Amino acid sequence: MISDETSDNVLSQLHISLCDLNQRGYDIEIGSGNLERIGLFISRFKPYSQVVVLADTNVRDNGYSDMVVRSLTDIGADVFVEVIRSGEQSKSVETAIKIWSDFLEVGIDRNSILVSVGGGVIGDLGGFVAAAYTRGIRFFQVPTTLLAQVDSSVGGKVGVDLPQAKNMVGFFHQPLGVLIDSDVLKTLPDIEYVCGLGEVAKYAVSLDAELFNMLETNADKVKARDSELIRFIVTKCCKIKGQIVEEDEFEKTGKRVLLNYGHTFAHVFEIVSKFTLPHGQAVAIGSIYAAKLAAELGITDKNFVDRQIKFHNSIGLPVELPEELFVTINWKEVIDLMQHDKKTESGKLRFVLPTKIGQCKVVNNVDPKNIYNLTGLSQNS
Ligand code: NAD
Ligand code: GLY
Repeated sequence: MISDETSDNVLSQLHISLCDLNQRGYDIEIGSGNLERIGLFISRFKPYSQVVVLADTNVRDNGYSDMVVRSLTDIGADVFVEVIRSGEQSKSVETAIKIWSDFLEVGIDRNSILVSVGGGVIGDLGGFVAAAYTRGIRFFQVPTTLLAQVDSSVGGKVGVDLPQAKNMVGFFHQPLGVLIDSDVLKTLPDIEYVCGLGEVAKYAVSLDAELFNMLETNADKVKARDSELIRFIVTKCCKIKGQIVEEDEFEKTGKRVLLNYGHTFAHVFEIVSKFTLPHGQAVAIGSIYAAKLAAELGITDKNFVDRQIKFHNSIGLPVELPEELFVTINWKEVIDLMQHDKKTESGKLRFVLPTKIGQCKVVNNVDPKNIYNLTGLSQNS
């Protein structure tokens, strides 16, 4: 069960607790100025030996990893800092090996804690590194992008990409906790804000009609990055995701898979772009393709597709692949790659498709012909 509690000062703290994960339950703390207080949160997990702070170059250059290190040092922690190059290309086995080698060199042991400070790349990579090192050390999430705050930091899916398959190697490894600082979003470039909105739109369109209606009505505020609204969105998305993760932590019952609207297309678009198309944009574009596929299959209608396109346009989300990718994309390769996606079983195409605003379902065994029909190409071209 998800429980939440807001302290007297509305701008201060909100706690969301994932209580139904047996001993793996944890709190999500949302508030202003949280980064400077991280020591208080980490000290709850004493005893530990060293605390590793993992960040990327942008996060370091914005001063966020330093803030975390200062707060941890203030509580007397022995801190080791690991900084990697920013970008999806770093979410690789090679980067993990480099980090594990550094750990060995400085004597990180089984009783250490890894703190991921950054976007989804740092969260997924840090969790992967932690889950495998000495067969598992504890880790803590400090998400600093909108995408990571609304999605990737919650739920314990951690992993790295292979060049031909996104998120293909990984674990379910729940964090000790998630500490969200609303202030850090102020430095987030517009393009990364839009990426976060890609996942927000996913929740709204496929899972929560109330959230969709609210965002549709307040599109101008969303676009203007209204801070009150962003706090509401982060809280709402964490609750939606937390509830689903509690119901189906290991994606076994058909519930958690519904978090993947647009993702079968998105993962392949990321691969064919050689990971230059950011995940959040790929999800936004992928969900429009999924909506069109649903209409093609008669699961939803054209009005749904038009409404989603209008919604994306109103909040600055893309609806089509960037021109350079659109003109070069090889749809046969796209379909081949989709048949290797993690969610595919026995090579049969499987999608999460919308039925109406706020609802979706898994559709198995989709005929590749239906995907070609979306592209205006024939299966033989
Ligand atoms: P990212 O981690 O690459 O961050 C995007 C960019 O923003 C990077 O350049 C980063 O350095 C910079 N940045 C981070 N915080 C900043 C800040 N406060 N101010 C300025 N710049 C900042 O990408 P992302 O969009 O956060 O995450 C995408 C990744 O998340 C993908 O790999 C995707 O597969 C993964 N993901 C995982 C899950 C999950 O459940 N594990 C869910 C969704 C997405
Ligand atoms: N991002 C999909 C999941 O966490 O299940």
